Amino acid sequence: MAKVLIATDKPFAPVAVDGIRQVIEGAGMELALLEKYTEKAQLLEAVKDVDAIIIRSDMIDAEVLDAAKQLKIVVRAGAGYDNVDLEAATAHDVCVMNTPGQNSNAVAELVFGLLVFAVRGFFNGAAGTELKGKKLGILAYGNVGRNVARIAKGFGMDVYAYDAFTPVSAIEADGVKAVASTADLFKACEVISLHIPATAETKGSINYELMNSMPKGAVVVNTARKEVMDEAGLAEIMKARPDFKYVSDIKPAIDAELAAAYPDRYFATPKKMGAQTAEANINAGIAAAEQIVGFIQNGNEKFRVNK
Ligand code: 3PG
Repeated sequence: MAKVLIATDKPFAPVAVDGIRQVIEGAGMELALLEKYTEKAQLLEAVKDVDAIIIRSDMIDAEVLDAAKQLKIVVRAGAGYDNVDLEAATAHDVCVMNTPGQNSNAVAELVFGLLVFAVRGFFNGAAGTELKGKKLGILAYGNVGRNVARIAKGFGMDVYAYDAFTPVSAIEADGVKAVASTADLFKACEVISLHIPATAETKGSINYELMNSMPKGAVVVNTARKEVMDEAGLAEIMKARPDFKYVSDIKPAIDAELAAAYPDRYFATPKKMGAQTAEANINAGIAAAEQIVGFIQNGNEKFRVNK
């Protein structure tokens, strides 16, 4: 009987675990659960005899893959898979998948939670500003970016986007203005929402120069990855521009320093929670379970991300 492990440092909502269990056990497979683990050794032990693993931002590296002798598939219940060593997975003959789009509305809603919080002065009681009429720049027009655009229109924002891989026609079909580069987006928009993945090309790419080109009253909201920020540049812009605000769902390494220095202009959630809703957990978790069943029973490799 194939064995599937849910290994989540940040657990799914119980209702999502129930849904995953129904899919896995309904397909005649066994489900094991490792939640809130604190040591890598616990993960290494839990993966020993499993055929499949469902993870979130949990790290799957060569050591984990070495320990998982029977492993055939890892599904990242979510979008970004920078936490999985894809080359090592391929070398171990392990298929890696993600579940694109399943948690994107949850992340997009949090963008606006953070933005309203930012423009209302972190709820300090003083007069803030509104989002209506402001230019919003969406950097990367994927599943989350599209949801952000949809919600932004409800706020009456003027929506712009840049995406190196999405055709301009697809962006404009949504009533969003496509610009030609990341630099053009930052120059045009007083609010920027980041949705780029963490890749070799994007790491450290959001730098001082880009942020400093933003109009007065600039707000950057990051629900993507901390790695895309040039942290020295972030520290520099916070210091140089008293009008600049940064709100994030991922703490940079310099979180404590920024939080102490700019309590009214810098905020990061204590734990990444963009995708942490019951709905997103159900959608992504059940999609992951179904993808595992499809792969093990029929060899279906849709959503495979490693070669
Ligand atoms: C994703 O890549 O899907 C999001 O960043 C959510 O990550 P999480 O599952 O760790 O909350």
